[in-house]
Amino acid sequence: MKAVEVENLCRSFGGTKALDGLTFSVKEGEIFGLVGPDGSGKTTCLRILCGLMEPTGGRAMVLGSDVVSDPEAIKNHVGYMAQPARLYEDLTVEENIEFYADLYEVPKDRYRDRMKRLMEFSGLSPFKDRLFRNLSGGMKQKVGLSCTLIHTPRILFLDEPTNGVDPVSRRDFWKILYELRRENVTIVVASTYLDEADRCHRVAFFDKGKIRMVEEPLELRKLLTDRLFNITVADRRKAMTILRALPEVSDHYVFGAGIHLLLKDKADPASVASALDMEGLKGFRMEPVHPSLEDVYLSILKKG
Ligand SMILES: Nc1ncnc2c1ncn2[C@@H]1O[C@H](COP(=O)(O)OP(=O)(O)O)[C@@H](O)[C@H]1O
Ligand SMILES: [Mg+2]
Repeated sequence: MKAVEVENLCRSFGGTKALDGLTFSVKEGEIFGLVGPDGSGKTTCLRILCGLMEPTGGRAMVLGSDVVSDPEAIKNHVGYMAQPARLYEDLTVEENIEFYADLYEVPKDRYRDRMKRLMEFSGLSPFKDRLFRNLSGGMKQKVGLSCTLIHTPRILFLDEPTNGVDPVSRRDFWKILYELRRENVTIVVASTYLDEADRCHRVAFFDKGKIRMVEEPLELRKLLTDRLFNITVADRRKAMTILRALPEVSDHYVFGAGIHLLLKDKADPASVASALDMEGLKGFRMEPVHPSLEDVYLSILKKG
């Protein structure tokens, strides 16, 4: 059985097509990323999968049950962390988690054990009596995750869980997600961060309510291997102008301190270098680079 199966899923708000025919599936135990810019439909997709919103077309199955016709079947197996995590500012860490335990009717004896494990697991034990509003951003997200996990869900839907969280806490948060895989929890996580996309087993790239591609990060990188080059040069503007006119060049853009240059399939890099030379570009260096996910993402979006 697939953990998630979505077929031609659509959702409109008035004239806006928030989701315009999504088709994808998520395997059990997989960490699956929904990656795309603001407004591309990630939250809408997650809300439909959790049964919080109805689609206007298509079909979505979670753990084998239709989310529209049979939402009760999955309710106790699904954990959803909205963005931002919706928790009570005036309750302590422990009280917030207890609130969720009651919401999901977790039996008291099971709750104690689970709570203790989650606290240790997320490093929250020393802060359990602290008011939520006095926590750092990273800690707040960990409390949100603990609340989402208190009823031991089989599938987790996380909406930009590390948005605004510092890099160290983000790494901690991901460690927890990887730990969850040992419990065979399936995780569907929305993100705008490409470094997070890199941590997923597979990624669906969202763009304007559509999915452009579903792939493993490693495979995505291969799409650009041997075609991506970095140019370092003092006169970057002149280099850009020359590149724009070269037929071998599929794309070029400023990247860090240099220019990233994507060549068309089978184009010869040596002929591009000599063209730059002939056009009078002085003192440049052109070398192959390992594609980052950002390069892949830009190239997918530009291809349309
Ligand atoms: N409740 C709503 N009413 C009207 N438009 C909405 C609503 N929710 C989302 N949208 C629109 O749907 C599109 C997708 O939004 P959303 O799913 O929140 O994207 P993301 O989570 O990727 O930022 C956006 O254009 C947004 O303005
Ligand atoms: Mg969103």
